[in-house]
Amino acid sequence: MNRFMILLCAAAVLGLARPAAADMDFNKDVKPILEGTCLRCHNPEKAKGKLRMDTRENFLKGSENGPVVVAGKPEASKLYQLVNQPKSSEDRMPPEGEPLKKDQIATIEKWIKEGAKWPDGVTLKFAGATAAAATPTAAAPKDDPGVPITDAEKAGVAKLQTGGVLAIRLAQNTNLLRVDFSLRGKEVKDDELVLLMDMPNLTELNLGGTNVTDASLAHLKPLTNLTRLGLQNTKITDAGLANLAGMTKLTSLNVYGTAVTDGGLQNLAALKSLKHLYVWQTKVTAEGAKKIGGAISGLDVERGYEPPPPPPPQEPAKAKDAPKKTEEKKPEEKKKPEEKKPEEKK
Ligand code: HEC
Repeated sequence: MNRFMILLCAAAVLGLARPAAADMDFNKDVKPILEGTCLRCHNPEKAKGKLRMDTRENFLKGSENGPVVVAGKPEASKLYQLVNQPKSSEDRMPPEGEPLKKDQIATIEKWIKEGAKWPDGVTLKFAGATAAAATPTAAAPKDDPGVPITDAEKAGVAKLQTGGVLAIRLAQNTNLLRVDFSLRGKEVKDDELVLLMDMPNLTELNLGGTNVTDASLAHLKPLTNLTRLGLQNTKITDAGLANLAGMTKLTSLNVYGTAVTDGGLQNLAALKSLKHLYVWQTKVTAEGAKKIGGAISGLDVERGYEPPPPPPPQEPAKAKDAPKKTEEKKPEEKKKPEEKKPEEKK
């Protein structure tokens, strides 16, 4: 026990001494996994197992069974145990859909090992399309068989799969394809994007969290059959969005966590099929969201979580406060308590 405490302290001291580059970046590495896979069921409205992952405070409270992480000890942490289960396990988290990928589980493990740090004031929110994209069946059209598979498409799919990219049919009864680079890691090569051009069945593409840029998006221009596109947490900007102008079948577009602004959204005005546009944590304003929402009927622009105002300086006054307590309710007086003291003395 004592030795463990010493280790913990040593780890903490080392951590302070060297804010090492190898440290997990919660916002970059961990948050997208939790938001994309867990928040759907562990949020303020829907807290399965009484576990909420929206704020650090709620997360640390844990589930109905208590804390779910032991800082520094992944194996002792319920959260790690549950994500590190085989697909067939009943206890696995997430309980439905695909399990987390190996590298995502490794990220969680490393994060807990490094103390499960959750920076001040960071709030997590269910990332709509990200999570939906992680559930292949979520958007699988029941009645669209797609088009016959060409040799080029077959070869392209095989090549992507060999490279560790997820490339699968949306469902058993369709040729329609979903390609997901996000689960492999950051790097996406241009020649991999070029392969996509030979895939007329490609309808869902997720490039979230990868190194794609505006320049890479030029390769997506011919993909006019896409219905869902994930570009969240990438370096794309307004200019890149111009490449999407021909994707008139697009129903869902996710650009959350990018530098996209109101101006960029104007590049999307021709996408009349668009139903869901995820722009939270971008520079898009309420006004900009409204404008594009007005240009495309039936479009739901998800700006998501609005940063809360700074915490109010005082507790909300209680209705049944006794009159003599009125002094305590004035926050201005609390600011300078010293000034009152001299007056008390004669
Ligand atoms: C589809 C809904 C759903 C999703 C998605 C989901 N969970 Fe859960 N989670 C549950 C339910 C339901 C419970 C309550 C325990 C149970 O019934 O297994 C739970 C409980 C938990 C618990 C507490 C277990 C305990 O015994 O105290 C942890 C930890 C947890 N989930 C982690 C996660 C993580 C991490 C993810 C994302 C990788 C995730 N969950 C995604 C539904 C979900």
